[in-house]
Amino acid sequence: SIAALDARPAYHFTPPTNWMNDPNGLVHVDGEYHLFYQYNPALPSWGFIHWGHAVSTDLVHWTDLPAALAPDPVLGMPFSGSAVVDRDRTSGLCGATAPDCVIAVFTHHGSAQVQSVAVSDDGARTFRLNHANPVLSNPGLIDFRDPKVFYHTPTRRWIMVLAAGDRVRLYGSSNLTGWTHLSDIGPSESLRGGVLECPDLFELPVSNEPGVMRWVLKIDSNPGGRYGGSGSRYLVGTFDGVTFTPLAQAPQWADFGPDFYAAQSFANTPADGRHLWLAWMNNWAYASALPTGSWRGAMTVPREVGLIRADDGTYLLTQRPAAELRALRDGAPAIEVADQPIGTPCTLLDGLTGDALEIALAFEPGTAREVGLAIRRGAGEETRVGYDAVRGTLFVDRSISGSTLLRETLPARHHAPLRADGAGLVTLTVLLDRSSVEVFAGDGRAVITDVLLASPASRGAQLYVDGGTARLRSLRAWTLRRVLR
Ligand code: FRU
Repeated sequence: SIAALDARPAYHFTPPTNWMNDPNGLVHVDGEYHLFYQYNPALPSWGFIHWGHAVSTDLVHWTDLPAALAPDPVLGMPFSGSAVVDRDRTSGLCGATAPDCVIAVFTHHGSAQVQSVAVSDDGARTFRLNHANPVLSNPGLIDFRDPKVFYHTPTRRWIMVLAAGDRVRLYGSSNLTGWTHLSDIGPSESLRGGVLECPDLFELPVSNEPGVMRWVLKIDSNPGGRYGGSGSRYLVGTFDGVTFTPLAQAPQWADFGPDFYAAQSFANTPADGRHLWLAWMNNWAYASALPTGSWRGAMTVPREVGLIRADDGTYLLTQRPAAELRALRDGAPAIEVADQPIGTPCTLLDGLTGDALEIALAFEPGTAREVGLAIRRGAGEETRVGYDAVRGTLFVDRSISGSTLLRETLPARHHAPLRADGAGLVTLTVLLDRSSVEVFAGDGRAVITDVLLASPASRGAQLYVDGGTARLRSLRAWTLRRVLR
């Protein structure tokens, strides 16, 4: 039954009740991370959209707060958008006594999609609408939404990236309320696939090229996902304050699984150089049909984002779970396996069970065609996560994960390009939760996120090797604590 599969995540953010989609307004203010999100407080289905709200000091424990934005009788529902700290008070919208002036810039979806601003004088706890909304009116487009705003220091103005159907538009502003069209990205063959949504634009250092910085344009599309439904890609290029110029390299998948959408970077993160984002862990192809009971929709874990230059010269995004997530580990590893050859059958993980686990392992694939983990194992079902040596890929296979609900769309194997590293090792970090798995490999280049519908009783785990022998170098697995809901 539906209730039997109501597997609310142990540590991934979910709404208190009812529907959630995109993360919005991600901003760090005065020691707190704010997570706003597209929220229907009335039903576990999309509609009556508010900005739900939660805060965290550690990216692990989240406290729910009242919804921050509600539908406006004239302008419509608050769709996706971002938030910034207006440190220099360029907007002139904040009260004189406000500690940090926080401005949310978002889409109002009413008779047309327009961009509006809301102001917080209490460090992003509560917002009031700017009295002169909208700040950017609709030029006659059906799709004109999801502003992500950041401050561009070299040109000393605010930049907005906005999804406009088949292209991304860039606007500039000195005060967050008057916006000038700067340039467009697309339309181009490489961005085609569906309606563009939720752009993000940011600069990152290249980890293996000292002193080199590149700009990343992340852009989502529905449809247009790697496996149908919705999906998220990025271009790497340069940005001069007016124009984003992509490098001559193909767009890449931000996450190679089906369940990563509408990712947004945190604004105003502490000055430790980290770039953090999280995404809606879902796919529009089936988001409304997932058997999640009174809540529907979860976020990915917060991830640290980087850039690396691959051997072929392309720049690739890297992602790893935010270091704070180590606090989820329930003490010492539940199991630790030493360096040894592995073959079939393998019983090394017989002692490991659970539906909220972190498993970190490294192996030499040897002569095997496939090496990996079977997780959420039970009667006639399991989910496989591993390395396909024939194809040279990381994969997550949810074809026999469990529930036969959504059997037209869910069962499949999802691949990301992956090679063994210079030392011949494949290194995986697996974050399993009660209804999802996120896998990170190749120094964060290969990332796959999948929603899982496994039977509650399927809690086993095992290593497996197909078609040869491999060598396990190390494996550590932790039970993760339930910290949410
Ligand atoms: C993306 C999206 C956005 C829109 C929001 C509406 O998932 O469709 O483009 O602003 O969701 O909830």
